[in-house]
Amino acid sequence: MENKKKKLGMIGCGAIGTEIVHAIDRGDINVTLYGCFDIDKNKFDALTAGLKNIKPQFMQAEELIKNCDIAVECAHKDAVKNIFQLAVKYERDIMFLSAGGVLENLDLIEQAKAKMINVYVPSGAVVGLDGLDAAKYQGLHKVTLITRKPPRALKGVKYLIDKGIDVDAIKAETVVFEGNALDAVKAFPQNINVAATLSMAGVGPELTHVRIVADPFITNNIHEILVEGEFGRFRAITENLPSPSNPKTSFLTSLSAIVMLKKIVEPIHIGT
Ligand SMILES: NC(=O)c1ccc[n+]([C@@H]2O[C@H](COP(=O)([O-])OP(=O)(O)OC[C@H]3O[C@@H](n4cnc5c(N)ncnc54)[C@H](O)[C@@H]3O)[C@@H](O)[C@H]2O)c1
Repeated sequence: MENKKKKLGMIGCGAIGTEIVHAIDRGDINVTLYGCFDIDKNKFDALTAGLKNIKPQFMQAEELIKNCDIAVECAHKDAVKNIFQLAVKYERDIMFLSAGGVLENLDLIEQAKAKMINVYVPSGAVVGLDGLDAAKYQGLHKVTLITRKPPRALKGVKYLIDKGIDVDAIKAETVVFEGNALDAVKAFPQNINVAATLSMAGVGPELTHVRIVADPFITNNIHEILVEGEFGRFRAITENLPSPSNPKTSFLTSLSAIVMLKKIVEPIHIGT
């Protein structure tokens, strides 16, 4: 049976990549890990040091994509374009965690569609995309994302520095951004994959409304999605805990990617 398993290539050996590879190592995802790439080889070494059952090879992104059935990007939004182009070139399926990077390269989605390449973007750090997906079929009126973050999670963000907002001085709930998803992704490149995923699943980046709130009374990120459409309306709230291996990444993100990969290779699919 081993030779029938899909071959997976992992690009990015940080927090999310490591959690996915560990799930493969435990036998939780029925794929063969063909190899891994990271611009920092030390990250690959650290990842493989924790493995018990598999020994993936280190290889460059192009070789990896060329030889695997599905590549999984867990790297950086700036890596998306090149990886996407390689996937189109070799006609390979691809999963992107850097949703903000996908939003910046929507033209490549059209190329992938033309070649019948499957492009997957997991729900990531947010719940509610199943309902959004179903509602979209009949028509959406309004999609809003309200992201609350502890001020320290916004420290060093250039957009806020340029606006003269000192996050250390925030002592009450403060709206630090209000606008559409396109501008949100540009202003908060490290923080706003959720806005990118939500807008691609729903009404698009120009029409998705985003509010970012610095809240000194919370310790973890909270995402609230408000959807109105022909079906009625819903409100979905996700209170995330950080990933054990990267406090900047919500734990739910890795879990969502692991389960999406399981759905790709397993026959039973429950939920929209
Ligand atoms: N979809 C979501 O909801 C969601 C949530 C959290 C994070 N993310 C995104 O997922 C990606 C991975 O997150 P993470 O927490 O694992 O980050 P991380 O910083 O822990 O790991 C990223 C790894 O990618 C490597 N890398 C960077 N640029 C690369 C490139 N061009 N080619 C190959 N490797 C490269 C780094 O060396 C690092 O090891 C990030 O882009 C992050 O913004 C998405």
